[in-house]
Amino acid sequence: MTNNNQSQAGSDIGMVGLGVMGRNFLLNMADHGFSVAGFDKDPAKVEALGHEAEQRNARGANDVVAFVDMLRRPRAVMLLVPAGPPVDSVISDLLAHLEPGDLIIDAGNSHFTDTDVRARNLAAKGVNFLGVGVSGGEEGARRGPSIMPGGPKEAYERIRPVFEASAAQVGGEPCVTYLGPGSCGHYVKMVHNGIEYALMELIAETYDLMKRGLGLDDDQLHDVYAGWNRGELEGYLVEITSNIFCKNDPKTGRRLIDEVRDAARQLGTGMWTSQSAMELQVATPTIDVAVAMRNLSALEGERAAASAALARKTVPYPVDRGAFLGQIGRALFAGSVIAYAQGLAVIKAASAKYAYGLDLSAVAKIWRGGCIIRAAVLEDFRAAYQSQPGLANLLLDPGLGRKVMDHQEDLRTVVSAAAALGVPAPGLMTALGYLDGYRSSMLPANLIQAQRDYFGSHTYERIDAQGSFHTQWEENA
Ligand code: 6PG
Repeated sequence: MTNNNQSQAGSDIGMVGLGVMGRNFLLNMADHGFSVAGFDKDPAKVEALGHEAEQRNARGANDVVAFVDMLRRPRAVMLLVPAGPPVDSVISDLLAHLEPGDLIIDAGNSHFTDTDVRARNLAAKGVNFLGVGVSGGEEGARRGPSIMPGGPKEAYERIRPVFEASAAQVGGEPCVTYLGPGSCGHYVKMVHNGIEYALMELIAETYDLMKRGLGLDDDQLHDVYAGWNRGELEGYLVEITSNIFCKNDPKTGRRLIDEVRDAARQLGTGMWTSQSAMELQVATPTIDVAVAMRNLSALEGERAAASAALARKTVPYPVDRGAFLGQIGRALFAGSVIAYAQGLAVIKAASAKYAYGLDLSAVAKIWRGGCIIRAAVLEDFRAAYQSQPGLANLLLDPGLGRKVMDHQEDLRTVVSAAAALGVPAPGLMTALGYLDGYRSSMLPANLIQAQRDYFGSHTYERIDAQGSFHTQWEENA
């Protein structure tokens, strides 16, 4: 595929779904010299494209036949529609008008198992299919997202120039690369979102500790996060957090953050990550708890009742404020690296189980820019996996392991303070629990084996002999 400035010759690529993401991605591609055609059943969305389309090599349609006719053969059609049934419905509408050799790219947050089914069904019809994760929200779609493509390599090669031009760039390198076959791209995007949930929970816990625990106001909170964003915590989520505390509410004249309800919504990708990790028997407690805390946050009425029924006298927790702020930042850094380590461990396990053949250094590399979890530390992750492609866990990289261990006393202090203050910090607590569990050469799982055998004759293994053993635990020899 080449840059094509001849709009009448047939557009290089079509976009189905002109919502926030689809429209912005389409304009992004057009700004990079590709001719594009957009389709949406909603005429208002097609019309909204009108003015911007006029100035670019872009056009719109709300009729599927007209839209397909606008595309150069073999056609390439990208979908940015909500995950689930809408994707199947669009594919079925398109199929009646596509031909063997055409390419469908699902760039939404589809569940990876749906992607596998769709790829099989479309392959049987001779239509190529790519499942592609796109991260970066509205701004990313418009100015350069991180793109995580999976599917047949030949199909990726057709769209590669478009993706490389439209993706975010870090150090002159695009935040996109071919990741692997099948549903690999959507799997990586799903875990990206699981890590996103964990990082957001960790940041929210630090906010709670500083607000409720230390009494910081919004200006001070802005300063703290802005300061952190200039150091080792530099990253998109920390940056937007610092900005949030400055935003005024035109309605009340107060800071908007203090007018926002404390009940977080979710579309499900964090939960999917935890579900998949459980199936693969990979421990991701910080991601799991991030999903759980969103669920708990939704119980506003119950929480109000419980806050009265389960009231506790606040116990003063004396801290040196300046020193404690530094400790919270260092605890957040350690917790964040541990959350990334959990997510990347799931990807590694999924790669083995589903034969994705993933290169984790490539994943870290394309997460350095454009995506929601981009952060300065991703460069360290890339380097770690590049020098040790088989690395079992990020925490086993000597440099990263040392950094986390350098911060672990701060994580312990902050977790203890949260417990003493009664400020919920399960993300930080599970990060610490994971770290301590992972670095324990001896866990109490011997007792769990004994209990299972005791009540269910499930057998157990011994340290000093091979095989499975069963014991009548109530009889003493
Ligand atoms: C991204 C985001 C994007 C979306 C999330 C929101 O990478 O650009 O992750 O995919 O904003 O899916 O997820 P929740 O609604 O579940 O928080």
